[in-house]
Amino acid sequence: MKVDGKHYRTIWVKPDDERVVQTIDQRGLPHRFVIEDLETVEQAARAIREMHVRGAPLIGVTAAYGMYLAALAAHEESAPAFVQAMQQAGQLLCSTRPTAVNLVWAVERQLQALPAAGGDVQACIQSTFDVAAAIADDEVENCRLIGEHGVELIENLSREKGGEPVNILTHCNAGWLACVDYGTATAPIYRAHERGLPVHVWVDETRPRNQGARMTAWELGQHGVAHTVVADNVGGHLMQHGLVDMVITGSDRTLYTGDVANKIGTYLKALAARDNQVPFYVALPSSTFDWEHSDGVAQIPIEEREAAEVKTISGLSEGEIRSVLLTPQESPAANFAFDVTPARLVTALITERGICPASEQGVLSLFPERAAI
Ligand code: MRU
Repeated sequence: MKVDGKHYRTIWVKPDDERVVQTIDQRGLPHRFVIEDLETVEQAARAIREMHVRGAPLIGVTAAYGMYLAALAAHEESAPAFVQAMQQAGQLLCSTRPTAVNLVWAVERQLQALPAAGGDVQACIQSTFDVAAAIADDEVENCRLIGEHGVELIENLSREKGGEPVNILTHCNAGWLACVDYGTATAPIYRAHERGLPVHVWVDETRPRNQGARMTAWELGQHGVAHTVVADNVGGHLMQHGLVDMVITGSDRTLYTGDVANKIGTYLKALAARDNQVPFYVALPSSTFDWEHSDGVAQIPIEEREAAEVKTISGLSEGEIRSVLLTPQESPAANFAFDVTPARLVTALITERGICPASEQGVLSLFPERAAI
C-alpha cells in the first residue's frame, strides 16, 4: 500500500544488502515514519516483543525472516550445530508473543523445510531465505483474495442502501501495517474504495496501544478512505442508532471451530453487534487458523503485557513523541491484550478461499484437506 504516494510492504530485504531485513518501526506512527534494519535474530525477536512490528501476519513474516537472519549467523557451523542453532532461534522467536498463531506457524514452516537441504549449510541458508520470501508473498496474495471475497459483502450492502455510504466498524489495526500488504479487515474496504463504492469506516481507538487511532486511521487516510475515529466504548451506541452496517475485524488466532481471538474489546463489539442485528465478520488468512484447539476461551493463551501500557498514553507534543502518566502512579493496572469472541457471535469468516460460517463444518468446507488430519 502507499505512504505519501509511494508503494511499501511492511517488511522487505534491503535492496543492496541481502543480509539485512528492513521493516517499518510502527512505534512512531502516525507521526514518524521510520525504517528499521534487522540484522540478527535477537533484533527480530525484540522487534516483535516490543511491537516495532505487530499484527499476526506481520509477526509471522518477521519470525520467518528472523530464522533467515539466524541461519546467516550460523553459516560456519557444522550441520548438526546449525540445526541446533535454528531450533534455539525458533524458541527465542516463539517466546516473544503467545497469542498470534502465525508466529509458531512460520517458525515451524522454516524448520520443516530444512531437511530438504540435505545437511548442506549453504543450502539451508538459501532455504530459510526462500521460505521467508514465499511466506511474505503468500500473505500478500491471501490478503488480496480476502479483499476480492469480502468486497462482495460490501457491494450487497451498498446495493441495499441504494448507493449510500456503507458504514463499517473495525477494531484495532488489521490493515496492511498488520500484514505485509492490503491488510485483512481492510482488504475488502480498500477493494470497495478502488471500485468506487462509497464506504465510511468507524475506527475504534483500541486502548491501550491505540492501534486503531494511530495506525488504522493513518493508513485509511493515506488511501483517501473516509473514516472517523471513535473512543472504544462508542460502538454500541452507533449500532443502536443504525450507524453501523457491518463490523469487520481481523484475528490473531481463529480455531477451526470458529472461535476468534482478536485485540481486547473485540468480544464486546460482537455482543453489541448481535444485540443490534449488525453482521459481524472476521477476516483472516489461513496462517491464522489454529487447527489443534477447539475451545477458544479455555485454550487460547492470552498475552498479558506491561501495566505501563495502560497507565500511560503517548502522542505528539511540541514536535516530540512523549508519554504521559494517566492514572495515579500507585494504582495497579491489568493489561490483557486479546479476548475471545465465541463462534456463535461471528456471522462469517472471510478467508483467501472464500467466505464461510464460523463453525467446524464451515471452515472445513473451505479447507477440506484439514478434515483428514
Ligand atoms: O497487539 P497487536 O497490535 O499485534 O494485535 C494485533 C492486531 O492488530 C489485531 O488484533 C488484529 O485485528 C489482528 S492482526 C491482522
